[in-house]
Amino acid sequence: MKYGYFDDQNREYVITQPDTPLPWINYLGCQAYFGIISNTTGGYSFYRDARLRRITRYRYNNAPFDLGGRYIYLRDDASGEFWSPSWQPTRHKLEQYSCRHGMGYTTISSQYSGIEASTRYFVPLDENLEIWQLTVTNRRPHAAELSVFSSIEFCLWDAQDDSTNFQRNFSIGQVEVEDGVIYHKTEYRERRDHFAFFACSETIAGYDTQRDAFLGPYRGWDNPDAVERGYCFDSVAHGWSPIGSHHVKLSLKPGESRQVVFVLGYQENQREQKFDPPDSQIINKKAVKAVIAKYRVAANADNAFEKLRIYWSELLGRCHVDTPDVHTNRMVNIWNAYQCMATFNMSRSASFYESGIGRGLGFRDSNQDLLGFVHMVPGRARERILDLSATQLPTGGAYHQYQPLTKRGNNDVGSGFNDDPHWLIIGVGAYIKETGDWSILDEPVPYDNAPGSETPLYEHLQRSFRYTLDRLGPHGLPLIGRADWNDCLNLNCFSDTPGQSFQTTTNKDGTVAESVFIAALLMLAGRELADIAQHRGLATEAASYLAEVAKMEATIRQHGWDGEWFVRAYDDFGRKVGSKENAEGKIFIEAQGFCTLVGIGLEDGLAVRALESTRQLLATKHGIVLQQPAYSKYYLELGEISSYPPGYKENAGIFCHNNPWVIIGETRIGNGDGAHDYYTRINPSAREEISDVHRCEPYVYAQMIAGRDAPTFGEAKNSWLTGTAAWNHYAITQWILGIRTSYDGLLIAPVIPKSWRGFNATRKFRGVTYNIEVQRAGDGNQVSLEVNGAPVQGNLVPLPPPGAKIVTVKATLH
Ligand code: GLC
Ligand code: GLC
Repeated sequence: MKYGYFDDQNREYVITQPDTPLPWINYLGCQAYFGIISNTTGGYSFYRDARLRRITRYRYNNAPFDLGGRYIYLRDDASGEFWSPSWQPTRHKLEQYSCRHGMGYTTISSQYSGIEASTRYFVPLDENLEIWQLTVTNRRPHAAELSVFSSIEFCLWDAQDDSTNFQRNFSIGQVEVEDGVIYHKTEYRERRDHFAFFACSETIAGYDTQRDAFLGPYRGWDNPDAVERGYCFDSVAHGWSPIGSHHVKLSLKPGESRQVVFVLGYQENQREQKFDPPDSQIINKKAVKAVIAKYRVAANADNAFEKLRIYWSELLGRCHVDTPDVHTNRMVNIWNAYQCMATFNMSRSASFYESGIGRGLGFRDSNQDLLGFVHMVPGRARERILDLSATQLPTGGAYHQYQPLTKRGNNDVGSGFNDDPHWLIIGVGAYIKETGDWSILDEPVPYDNAPGSETPLYEHLQRSFRYTLDRLGPHGLPLIGRADWNDCLNLNCFSDTPGQSFQTTTNKDGTVAESVFIAALLMLAGRELADIAQHRGLATEAASYLAEVAKMEATIRQHGWDGEWFVRAYDDFGRKVGSKENAEGKIFIEAQGFCTLVGIGLEDGLAVRALESTRQLLATKHGIVLQQPAYSKYYLELGEISSYPPGYKENAGIFCHNNPWVIIGETRIGNGDGAHDYYTRINPSAREEISDVHRCEPYVYAQMIAGRDAPTFGEAKNSWLTGTAAWNHYAITQWILGIRTSYDGLLIAPVIPKSWRGFNATRKFRGVTYNIEVQRAGDGNQVSLEVNGAPVQGNLVPLPPPGAKIVTVKATLH
């Protein structure tokens, strides 16, 4: 069953009924001002940091779902009837409804009682505000007297404090209302230099800023007193809960349309110029008034929207493919790339599942996210790399996350995850391969943000690699620390106390438990670093990295091979995890995916066997589960992984992030059919038809799909903010379609399904447009290449001479 359809032409997903199984969201903003918006306008906005600069309030995990939003009410002043044109919060039955989630905007349209309303929500580029463009049309045969009420609830800035510290917060709320503009200024009188504003293009008939006045006692957003009676109270909030609501009256002739623009924004003032007059307590509104005046004019809003459209066309145009598979095309060209920009901007902070207060930007996550967005925003990728590496510790280790507003690392979700440092090498490698910008390696970057501690970025990479070599365990495999990529495999935790964090609790000295996953990751990072060293003219150093890689490969073969698949880890007792010796959790996906992705056993059949075991034991119709058999009870020595009921999350859920590792592994053994089949199983667009089972948005990947051990097998959760976005984009474009960045140019190495006759692609790379045509002449993956009409040996497209703008590539597969 479906709840809508893809409109690929317009790069939109169109939702045709408001009561989707879960709120289906979209993101507004792509620079500093952001918001999430559901298909019924639920969600909130923030400036840079979803925890520390929350602008509007939202109530997670409420009943009904998805309360708090950008609500508009329409009221028929003749009959007194009122409704929400976005369905929530009144949930009035609508005669028509559609929600178009597009690139950086959402338009919700509906009709009720002959009144059509359509609202386009977006954040203009280079502005710290959002625009709601409401168009109301009278489709009745007679005139209509209508009232429009806008509404938002302000958050008192720090979202965590806002939802807990009521003894203070109920007394501090403050607003100003001037010329119909509502200004939210809680704490502006003391240490904050920022405020929010909510303006309307029309002359207003009234306003409210105190929630209880607008709603009335014991009433909710579904039934506000002000809307019911048809006029506001002109309330001015002191304490309690400041809101913003404008009341606009519209008289519409039959067929007449009117547009009302609402502008909600964020503004910072210079500390010395906060007040106007200076000795008053009144907000200095000089800067903001000009902005408000601009966007109150519908034509300016339209202009800003057009610029946003062009911005997204340009970004998405950098990698465009035309394959025989609609789901591949749609995801690569539109939604997967778009989702990669969301993970770039949000990391794991703000979604319907991530409350915006739990996690900042993850060190490991953000470095992996680079794989998916570096081709779209290379300049911002550079900045991200420098920010991330500045939080690195002098040991080469890393804080697990940093707060986007302060850019400082913190230990809130622990540190000492021993895989973390390697991802920096992977991220930097991806950046240089894409851009050819070697200068980044010479950038001075501090450790732990301490001034004076700067070294060239290159030394950060050296320390990252060293970090693991300095921390090897009894078998010569890397010690796991708190956990590796799998945050929930906590082999040094041994927690028996309810509520303890598995990520910050350690009861063992950590000198025994080892990770085969980190061993394979070290091989990937070591080769990357060797390539980088080689390009810097450090041949001996490069050779030493390759020697470590070879040594680690031998160690994996000796202690990490279980006979039919790769072992996952060794626990604190030195016993295998993910082995036939275990009663449960005999085989894990991470080890099979990563060991084959780095090419262990390509020559002697180990890779094929590991992937065969994966197919037999882990693959399901909904994707590949994390391990089998699922843990049926809590294992003290394994940690959080066994805390989840079987089939969920890391305990045998389909944790989509690691499926592409197996997909890449399949391409390495030359199995294009297998790779693309796995790709399709978790491709959200290919799952659209089973939206009633999948339940999450059919246009973006989710972190998890319940595994076969769960009663809800096939149900997705935690959509949008997941490493799945970057890895799948990388796996399909660079390994299946095989248009792969390298230090010396683009490689063409497709491993596509046998039935495909070929495909076309356009790839912008280092300022040049590559028009690529791939044709199948035989069943294999052997490539012969023609570049600008001339045959070329091998499968590397040589970098064109400076000034060249277009390169034509023809690849034939034999
Ligand atoms: C979450 C985390 C990521 C981790 C994964 C597996 O997605 O954000 O860092 O690797 O879970 O536990
Ligand atoms: C939990 C989740 C895991 C996530 C981690 C972040 O352990 O299961 O997916 O990465 O929290 O701290």
